[in-house]
Amino acid sequence: MRANPNQLKAHFKSKLTENEIEELGVNLGAGADHYRAYVGPPFMYDLNGGMQFQFLLDLGMREYSRVLEVGCGSLRLGRFLMMFLLPGRYYGVEPNTKILEEGIHHNLGAPAAENQLIALKRPTFADNSDFDFSFVREPVDFIVAQSIASHTGVKETRELLANVGRVMHEESIAMVTYIRTVNPETCNDKDGWFYPECVMYTDAHMRELARSLGLLAYRTNWPMLNRRPEGLLTTQTPLILTKRPWQPTMAQRLAGMTFQPIDRLV
Ligand SMILES: C[S@@+](CC[C@H](N)C(=O)[O-])C[C@H]1O[C@@H](n2cnc3c(N)ncnc32)[C@H](O)[C@@H]1O
Repeated sequence: MRANPNQLKAHFKSKLTENEIEELGVNLGAGADHYRAYVGPPFMYDLNGGMQFQFLLDLGMREYSRVLEVGCGSLRLGRFLMMFLLPGRYYGVEPNTKILEEGIHHNLGAPAAENQLIALKRPTFADNSDFDFSFVREPVDFIVAQSIASHTGVKETRELLANVGRVMHEESIAMVTYIRTVNPETCNDKDGWFYPECVMYTDAHMRELARSLGLLAYRTNWPMLNRRPEGLLTTQTPLILTKRPWQPTMAQRLAGMTFQPIDRLV
């Protein structure tokens, strides 16, 4: 079931004023230079961030958890995480500092330097594009990389997963999304960063990658929120990576999560 973006957008716009449509960048395409559009379709900014947050809650995140967000963009998810987590528990890495600063300003009410929520929650941000997570001084409990491996080439996807593994302890859970293809001919074989274009990978590619890094990988699906009358919000697949065998939580199972160790996928 593919999303019908035009229907979603038309419905969203019908609820907004002309000023809101302008300010929220609703008519801009994904990847445009606007804090919402840059990270994806602006008319799904609320639901996409909310759904990632729900995914982490269902996965077992608590307020005392330490969470690293790779490519935190304009805090589509990060604004919810910061509000929820105890001070000093949120880590975000984002090379586009302009988008991040605009996200802080628009989503949290003031620029970072004078922002009360930032002062209260003391998030740590890093500005690098090398997947260098050394600013996280101790292993974290959850890592989320949403819509990152959908843009990374072969070498960069390996770097991403390898460095994710380096900040995991034995019980950490990482969630990395990718765009699945079942056709090996359309599986990306180039290096680089592709944006706003997307790249696709087969399960076999992700399986070999995880295996070679000593990580366990599980193909899962989003909470039911992903299903809209108009189609799916996102067709990206959440991949769970762990160091120890993992099973979905009761919340996830009762909500219909399908769960397949990637080793068993053909
Ligand atoms: C499609 S957006 C997703 C943003 C965020 N994860 C979300 O779901 O809202 C991809 C983000 O990755 C950031 N990015 C690009 N190269 C990166 C890198 N090497 N490491 C971390 N983030 C990167 C981009 O600047 C952009 O904000």
